[in-house]
Amino acid sequence: MSLDKLKDTLQLELDDLYKAGNAKGKELVITGVKPAEGSKGPRYYIEGKKDKEFLRMNANSYLGMSLRKDIIEAEEKAAREFGVGPGAVRFISGTYKAHTMLEERLARFHNRKAAMIFSSAYVTSLSVLFPLITKDTVLISDELNHNCIIIAIRLSRPAVKGIYKHNDMNDFEAEIAKNIGKGKRVIAVTDGIFSMRGDNAPLDKFVEICEKYNDKFDEGIISIIDDSHGIGAFGKTGRGTEEYCGTKVDIVIGTLGKSFGVNGGYVAASKQVIDFLREKAPMYIYSNPITVSEASAALKAVEILDSPQGLEILEHLRRMTKRFEDGLKEAGYETIEGEHPVVPIMVRDTKKTSELVKYLFENGILSTGLNFPVVPKGDEEIRIQISADHTKYDIDYAIGVLKKFKKKQ
Ligand SMILES: Cc1ncc(COP(=O)(O)O)c(C=O)c1O
Repeated sequence: MSLDKLKDTLQLELDDLYKAGNAKGKELVITGVKPAEGSKGPRYYIEGKKDKEFLRMNANSYLGMSLRKDIIEAEEKAAREFGVGPGAVRFISGTYKAHTMLEERLARFHNRKAAMIFSSAYVTSLSVLFPLITKDTVLISDELNHNCIIIAIRLSRPAVKGIYKHNDMNDFEAEIAKNIGKGKRVIAVTDGIFSMRGDNAPLDKFVEICEKYNDKFDEGIISIIDDSHGIGAFGKTGRGTEEYCGTKVDIVIGTLGKSFGVNGGYVAASKQVIDFLREKAPMYIYSNPITVSEASAALKAVEILDSPQGLEILEHLRRMTKRFEDGLKEAGYETIEGEHPVVPIMVRDTKKTSELVKYLFENGILSTGLNFPVVPKGDEEIRIQISADHTKYDIDYAIGVLKKFKKKQ
């Protein structure tokens, strides 16, 4: 009954979102997947679109792992052996061999002493930051960090919050310097790859600054990255922004649900930090882990990435990314070049962004338009995400459609 009283208020908020054009609105429903065939990569079917096939260029599955037979088999086999759900949280009776094997493998992959998994990377960021941020902590964060970091900071109560300009290491240093004496420890946190534009944090400089000021705080400066979009898609062997920048932070957060193609999140760090988090992270203690099947599939995905085959997949991904970027420029579009498979088409206009997304959709391409307030005014863009599933044919098809749109203008 109490909902009767609330309904007008909720409706007002919803109406505001719809009026401002900021609502996410109705979601596309994928009803089927057609496997890769001949020169074409996989195609997707959408509810209400009958047999029309779509090329998916807005997924985070950068390595195409989610449709691989060997990974699906690993997932299926585990479900048959262990059932489909963990049945309890980890410390009660929900820890299975696949969970601990995956944690050991992830620690090894990141050359860390230990790792632990969570139900998602979002939950991992909450679970790492919340217990480590005390009332004596100075918290320093990039202004464009992912929402999971923003909410983690809101949940915690640091002594001071310093938000620095995006990727501006002078501003980062200034925020640390001005807060000397205001807390015992500093938590410095950044996304590895910023997913809206595919740009990376200048991590070498970030770590250098943390080291420079470490002695100025009783409990030092703890550097943390959430490299959910970087790991598996960036760096020579897919170890992400750390590898690309040739440096190492104290704590690295990743996801199993993007490049690894499965689901879940994880953190890799020292054994002591992991022991501490197992005791202190509420989202770990009071919430189920990923399923045994997911853990088994993710383990298989890490093994594939960390093998000669993984290097080949990464090489193909880089070639497809470059082919798309070159095609875009030749067709007269503005982009932000880089090795990461997020390739933004900088449209810089809300209406034109919507028109182009619609045109791509009509031509069988799924893409994502990003408008204010998700991106700053003037940075309106279409985020294209290249995947190792994409073939030369797919890339050339997408470029062909973009060229046709340009001609229409
Ligand atoms: C930096 C960052 N962290 C966390 C997430 C969420 O990942 P997950 O879906 O595993 O929760 C994302 C997803 O977009 C992300 O970009």
